Amino acid sequence: MSVTDQAFVTLATDDVYCQGALVLGQSLRNHTTSRKLAVLITPEVSSGMRSVLRSVFDEVTEVDALDSADSVRLALLQRPELGVTFTKLHCWTLTHYSKCVFMDADTLVLCNVDELFDREEFSAAPDSGWPDCFNSGVFVFRPSLKTYNLLLQFAAEHGSFDGGDQGLLNSFFSNWATADIGKHLPFIYNLSSSAVYTYVPAFHHFGRDTKVVHFLGATKPWNYKYNLQTKRVMQDGTTSGSFHQLSFLALWWNIYSASILPLLEKFQKMEESESEEWKHTFRGVEITLKKVDPSVANSLQMHVLPEQAYEADPTASSSEELSFKAEFNWR
Ligand code: UDP
Ligand code: GLC
Ligand code: MN
Repeated sequence: MSVTDQAFVTLATDDVYCQGALVLGQSLRNHTTSRKLAVLITPEVSSGMRSVLRSVFDEVTEVDALDSADSVRLALLQRPELGVTFTKLHCWTLTHYSKCVFMDADTLVLCNVDELFDREEFSAAPDSGWPDCFNSGVFVFRPSLKTYNLLLQFAAEHGSFDGGDQGLLNSFFSNWATADIGKHLPFIYNLSSSAVYTYVPAFHHFGRDTKVVHFLGATKPWNYKYNLQTKRVMQDGTTSGSFHQLSFLALWWNIYSASILPLLEKFQKMEESESEEWKHTFRGVEITLKKVDPSVANSLQMHVLPEQAYEADPTASSSEELSFKAEFNWR
């Protein structure tokens, strides 16, 4: 039974975060959600990527980027790039839905989580860094222009204590910690993959029930290398991860390589086989798959594994270390 007035909503302000949104959307589909899938994007997202998004999401909505521009507080968070997370507030404008679950583009569902819609606004799980705050990577809300305007007004008057949406939302829904335990989502609905080793015994005890993994932090799944043959995520000097974190990363990459890459390739092929005119429409969004220069291997790149480029990383010293890295370039 499909429920058309409720949706999972995510946000991607550029083609990089779209990779995460696509994997999240696919993971929700894999676990046969009965709810709609919506993604908010900003003008920066290329039209090629929009086509790919439309094949996974029911609704792709362009919104204006909102930025806290609060460099001082963002520096405290050590995440200067997160001012743009204010764009998340646009989710309250999706008033054709009666209730929604927002999920960050760096989350992944491991099973069906439609029961989240039994919760009320504002439900969220504790933040692993400060458990009296909720983490704003997964939350239940009711779209409402009134709430949206109140949030914008609150932002203008008070700003956000972390420079991103999480500080703002925690100040706005300030009684979350104390008022209603029903609005505390269990941690397994927003398990920070890096928090696992701050309490390993709890992870051993409860971890198998994890329903949503959140790759919170500056290093995202798409910043790792992945070996297609061994289906293993590779670690290098700049990335680290426990066994459990690596297995969550491998899950992300399995979905990416099995379902998202073929979509990206399909759209690329369509582009190649279409008329000049169609190509012209896509000029600005040409997908070029090429190997990355190892000297820039750790910078923020797409790691796309095109059929024609399955070659060993020239820096790899043994077959065990074979990995693939390609630059993904829409423009
Ligand atoms: N986001 C985005 N573009 C950006 C930064 C963030 O679209 O440049 C969105 C995306 O949905 C992302 C969310 O905002 O998952 C929150 O950012 P992030 O997940 O990087 O923060 P973290 O959870 O690591 O604190
Ligand atoms: C958090 C949340 C993320 C939010 C960011 C900025 O760590 O995981 O969703 O965008 O803080 O407030
Ligand atoms: Mn996140």
